[in-house]
Amino acid sequence: MDICMEQVIDMVHSVKPFFMDNAMSRDVTVKGLADFVTKADTSVQSRLFSELSKHYPGIQFMGEEDHMQAVDFSRPMWILDPIDGTTNLIYSYCHSAVSLGYYENKAISAAVIYNPFTEETFYAVRGQGAFLNGRRIRVTQKTALKDSLIAIGTSPYDKEMAEDNFHIFKEVFKHSLDIRRSGSAALDLAYVASGRVDGFLERNLKPWDYSAGALLVEEAGGQVTNYSLSPLDYSKNQDILASNREIHRELQKVVMS
Ligand code: IPD
Ligand code: CA
Ligand code: CA
Repeated sequence: MDICMEQVIDMVHSVKPFFMDNAMSRDVTVKGLADFVTKADTSVQSRLFSELSKHYPGIQFMGEEDHMQAVDFSRPMWILDPIDGTTNLIYSYCHSAVSLGYYENKAISAAVIYNPFTEETFYAVRGQGAFLNGRRIRVTQKTALKDSLIAIGTSPYDKEMAEDNFHIFKEVFKHSLDIRRSGSAALDLAYVASGRVDGFLERNLKPWDYSAGALLVEEAGGQVTNYSLSPLDYSKNQDILASNREIHRELQKVVMS
C-alpha cells in the first residue's frame, strides 16, 4: 500500500464546509423510496474524486453517487460514501459522516470515517490498529449478549424486508441490554470499533456503507461477517454482522432464530 494516511485524512477533512452548508443539504433530489441525494453529497464526492485522482492517479474509484462506473475488483480502488446519513443531514440531526476505504487484494487496507459535526475522525490501517482523533480505540470486552448494547439498521430502502427485520430486532432487543438506531451505518461500525456499542447489524448494506467501518472494527479487535458468518465479499451488498468478537456467535444465533 502506497497511501499517505495524513494526506488522505486532510482531504477528507476539507469537505466539512459542504456538510455545514444548509442550502446544499436542503437541495434534495429523490433517488428512490425514502432515498435522497443532496447537493452536499454530490459536492463531497466530486471534491474527493478529483483530489484522490490527482494524488493517486492509478487507483480506481467507486463512489455511491456515481456507482455506474465499471471497476475491476482484482485491482486497487477507493470506496467512498460521500455522506453516510443523508437523511440525518437533511433533518439537521448532526450524525452523518464521510466514509472512505482503500481496497486491495480483496480486503480493505486503510479506512477513514469522519463526522464533521463532532469533529471525530476514526481511521485504521491494516495491521496497525484503529484510532479516534489520534488515540487508539478498542472494542468492548462484554462476553454476554444480555449485557450488550446493539445498534440496528433498518434497511430503509428495502421496505419489503421490514417483517423479517423487525422480527430480528425484537429478538435482539429481548436478548440484549437495549438497541439503538442511528441513521449512519458507517458511524454504527465506528461505534462498535470505539466501544460505544457492543454490536451492529443491518441487511443489504452496500460496499460504500460498510467497507471502511469493517476495517475499523477488525483493527479494534472485533469481528465482521455476514449473517451466515462468512467473510465479507467487498464486491457485493452484504448483510452485516459486527461485534466485539466475544458476543458474535450468540448474536448470530439470535439473528438467525
Ligand atoms: C444509509 C445509512 C443508514 C442505513 C442505510 C444506508 P445513506 O446510507 O447508512 O443508516 O440504514 O442502509 O443506506 O443512504 O445515508 O448513504
Ligand atoms: Ca450509506
Ligand atoms: Ca450516502
